[in-house]
Amino acid sequence: MISAHPNEIVFLSGGTEANNMVLNMFKCQQKLQNGYGAGDEVVKLPHIITSSIEHVSITKPLEKLRDDGLVEVTFVDVDKTTHAIRVEDVLQAIQPQTTLISLMLANNETGVLQPVKELSEKLRPYQHSNRKIYLHTDACQAIGKIPVSVKDLSVDYLTIAGHKFYGPRIGALYVRGLGHCNGAPLQPMILGGGQENGYRAGTENVAMIVGLGKASELVSSNIHSYQSQLLSVRDYLEDSLQQKFGSLIHFNAKSSDSTRLPNTCNFSLVGKRFLGRAILQHCKVIIAGVGAACHSNAIVASPILLNSGIPSDIAVNAIRLSVGIKTSFADIDVAVEDIWNAYQAIAHPKSHSQSTEQ
Ligand SMILES: Cc1ncc(COP(=O)(O)O)c(C=O)c1O
Repeated sequence: MISAHPNEIVFLSGGTEANNMVLNMFKCQQKLQNGYGAGDEVVKLPHIITSSIEHVSITKPLEKLRDDGLVEVTFVDVDKTTHAIRVEDVLQAIQPQTTLISLMLANNETGVLQPVKELSEKLRPYQHSNRKIYLHTDACQAIGKIPVSVKDLSVDYLTIAGHKFYGPRIGALYVRGLGHCNGAPLQPMILGGGQENGYRAGTENVAMIVGLGKASELVSSNIHSYQSQLLSVRDYLEDSLQQKFGSLIHFNAKSSDSTRLPNTCNFSLVGKRFLGRAILQHCKVIIAGVGAACHSNAIVASPILLNSGIPSDIAVNAIRLSVGIKTSFADIDVAVEDIWNAYQAIAHPKSHSQSTEQ
């Protein structure tokens, strides 16, 4: 599915664990006292670069490692018009002790694709025999929606979450040349039995690994039809919403300057009363998130949308809809009608309750 060799795959619990595992490998490995190592030498902390729109399973561990004095971190802002990172900004953030760059392949809230391939190409002049900058990409959202190849992206690490592409709730980490002397390094985060060649202890979850294999096989053989099917249904959704709501709707991070996943639609209905949560509470058919699923109870605007350049009064109203490979045009008609009725119920509460009573 991703053009990797089987020996380069480690099975683990999901995307969060894979991301944590990569980041934790690049922390300062020696005990420091006030910035000094075992002798009297000043130790420069490893430096990690990431973007300001990563999933919390990247940002939270990085903030913790930074607060514990084990790494230095630069969060690079994304371009507010393309909603993607600028490769030049990442290159400019490189320091002599930069050891890792982690950049997601597609954002989970906006679907905007990030320039991982371009970054790996432009990173080549910075690679020296005595110093390497490793490149990790969190591909959780992209796999199953667009073709993903580690060869094409030329990354050292890639995060996979099975449940994002109809597999079971399990994950895997791709590690380039794992176990070879010039392969990317990996250290276990969970210790115990010697499973997964000693890289991830704990009895293998065989049934889920088989399920992940089957889901990967389906993606490999069908990715192009999945991609075009998702795109036509998502575009129909956006066209239908646009027709129904006209100037009352704002599509977030949809711009001719950016490329998005084919399944994701993030929009806001304009006006103070139309918070994403309020609309969804009035919906009778659809169930959706207002941001990342992990923190969709929030009433505040999503930091990812704010960091992507969406104004706060619009971001606070955001609703994220994703279509799946079985979503039909008829499903979209029902969903759009449902959102329209929810909108009307908030816009005209009295007349709406009268008409539903009748
Ligand atoms: C981009 C991204 N990375 C990581 C994760 C975390 O994956 P998991 O739920 O498998 O731990 C998610 C899941 O929402 C995600 O969207």
